[in-house]
Amino acid sequence: MKTKTPPDHIPSNSIQDSGQDVPHAAMKDLNRRSFLRNSLVAGAAVTAGAVMLESIPSALAQEGHGHLTRGDAAILRWLAAAEIIETDLWQQYNELGGIQDAEVPGGSGSQSYANAIKQLDGDMDQYIHDNTEDELSHETFINAYLTSNGASPVSLDQFRTLPSSKATGAQQIGRLTNLTQLTVDTTWWTRYRSRTANPDLGDTFPPAIPSLAVGQHPGIPRTDSDLTDPNFLQAIANTAGFHFANIEVGGASMYPGLAQRVTSVEVLRILLSIGGTEITHFQTWHDKAGNAPPLTAMDPVTGVKVTFPDLNSPPFGGEDFQTNLIMPELTAFLSRKLPACSIIRPTSTRDAAKLALQGFMSMGVFIGQSPAFFELVNRLAVEADDAKRGTS
Ligand SMILES: [Fe+2]
Ligand SMILES: [Fe+2]
Repeated sequence: MKTKTPPDHIPSNSIQDSGQDVPHAAMKDLNRRSFLRNSLVAGAAVTAGAVMLESIPSALAQEGHGHLTRGDAAILRWLAAAEIIETDLWQQYNELGGIQDAEVPGGSGSQSYANAIKQLDGDMDQYIHDNTEDELSHETFINAYLTSNGASPVSLDQFRTLPSSKATGAQQIGRLTNLTQLTVDTTWWTRYRSRTANPDLGDTFPPAIPSLAVGQHPGIPRTDSDLTDPNFLQAIANTAGFHFANIEVGGASMYPGLAQRVTSVEVLRILLSIGGTEITHFQTWHDKAGNAPPLTAMDPVTGVKVTFPDLNSPPFGGEDFQTNLIMPELTAFLSRKLPACSIIRPTSTRDAAKLALQGFMSMGVFIGQSPAFFELVNRLAVEADDAKRGTS
């Protein structure tokens, strides 16, 4: 177990969004400055963290940090929201299946669930912990950077209304996301193994685990009753294992996609540096998902079935499914006339934020969220995608 000095995190909930509805028609014409003023300042909850954030601008100003362009601020604000969402997902996984400590406090663990997840790798609890801490640092850093440049940070605190798992080990607090009704897209498995196809060139890919793409599946135990059948408990852990990669593959594409719209070299540096860690997360989870024990199980509550096949045996197997092919295979990039190349894909900049949001939505993690929540996150994604490189 590694030991590290606990980070000096700066809470990001200094300003809370009002969550007021804005008609879709108005969204395109949204003036960012009035949006920031009107939607973020209302309901402001000033905390000790806000005081810490306010002390940052003068320090950074002395180092020559300037003001953000409208587009750069919009991209960073969407990324802050996406990181807050990621943190909420990972926090729930860590409370039950990770390591609860001063770096990532909250929850007390579920030994049975953690053991099931460890069937994928004996260090899963450490990886879950570290991924959670990373997301919290991303969220905190981006919000602090926005504040340091005179832009408002993002808070989704008022939308922490979804219930926690009732399983022993989970905190009983409001959540932004729902991990009990997941629909997991596993097309990334074949996308990163294909030697000819690229989603940026219009290609589509089959899922590695077709039954995870239909119905709703828990990624954490809903109650302690979900721990009693070892086969179903392993199905929950396997679902989590593939969901981990599903979360992080989105970040791996979103950051390079949005980086192409950034104006400031320093903001570009932020996107490249944080985006790189999203890719390391994806790579780790991609490797571990291949260790999920093959099984078929039925959810005793919903009746939904799930099958995790042996991906190394017929009708699977071969280069599109073999579990140890975890490095991105060479594939077409930019043009099929150019040589094949090992790359992150997709990286198209068009609708990069909206596609990432759509990815979250199609997972089912927002089931139960309010219309005001969807309005806000959609607006942030639209504004990020409207950013144009080189404009003020
Ligand atoms: Fe992140
Ligand atoms: Fe991430």
